[in-house]
Amino acid sequence: MIFIETLKQIHQEINDVKISTVEELELFRLTFLSKNGKIAKLLDEFKLMPKEVKREAGKPLNEVKKLAEEVFKANEGVVKNNQNTQKDIDLTRQASTIALGSTHPITLVRQEIESIFERIGFTISKGPEIEDDWHNFSALNFPEEHPARDMQDTFFIEKSPDWALRTHTSSIQVRVLDKQKPPIRTLAPGRVFRNEAISSRAHCIFHQIEGIYIDKNVSFADMKQTLLYFAKEFFGENAKIRLRPSYFPFTEPSAEMDVYWGLNSEADYRITKGTGWLEVMGCGMIDPAVLESSNIDPKEYSGYAFGMGIERIAMNKFQITDLRMFFENDLRFLNQFISEV
Ligand code: PHE
Repeated sequence: MIFIETLKQIHQEINDVKISTVEELELFRLTFLSKNGKIAKLLDEFKLMPKEVKREAGKPLNEVKKLAEEVFKANEGVVKNNQNTQKDIDLTRQASTIALGSTHPITLVRQEIESIFERIGFTISKGPEIEDDWHNFSALNFPEEHPARDMQDTFFIEKSPDWALRTHTSSIQVRVLDKQKPPIRTLAPGRVFRNEAISSRAHCIFHQIEGIYIDKNVSFADMKQTLLYFAKEFFGENAKIRLRPSYFPFTEPSAEMDVYWGLNSEADYRITKGTGWLEVMGCGMIDPAVLESSNIDPKEYSGYAFGMGIERIAMNKFQITDLRMFFENDLRFLNQFISEV
């Protein structure tokens, strides 16, 4: 039967086809699969065939059609790949390197501190950099006209004395206390601003991390133990800390925490001002007046707070002797931290 013979022949033709370029693929499509292609013609012929032939030829016809479609699909992928590896491309050439940025040392230290406190249940809170007097000072028990406000020279927003750039992350304490109910355990990192002369030890912009913990029966001993845990995790198992009495309007009693740094080299003398100790944070028991101004009953709840300077800790960790380096974006400085990522 001629029709069956033709089918066999086309089947063979399809099997024999070799396709390696886009043009060959298109030729295949035109020859077999297009409207005027061989398979379309077979289908037209098939329609006119008598019943007996149809019964016999239906299956092989379908198979030929399927085969043509499969061959087309399979070669489509191959041809695409071939296109990507054209012969004039030098496959032995080295790939050009993609310049990777580095994580800024301040970010590295912040992330490490956050993870140390997250392990003991602290969450992360945020607050705005432009603050009103209430959140930055008044709610934190800084009386109006009180000289304590001069402890932190403030950048006020022009013509609007009620608004200023926050001088510390303690302003976030107030925001958290207003929104959450104890128990509260949170860390508040952020950028702070003070109108200070820029030097190797001070800058008008720097970063702090505030920590607060409020619950029933929270004591000074809890704070000391938590800070010791932090010091050991961050500075190493042998880290030693000491607390010196200090003053902050929003904590009572207040303290400053030092970490032992050592006094072996001349640089140690310079960094620790000859004491061997490095001051890393202010801390204390949250003043009852602060709790009250956020409607937390100080008879039922107590808590501690601490605030540390990230630059201070980063200088210490990476032996950086000039604070200004953090803000200059000098690539020779930043590239040193690529491996730390
Ligand atoms: N906010 C204080 C500062 O910037 C630090 C501090 C925070 C002290 C929390 C006690 C409690 O100096």
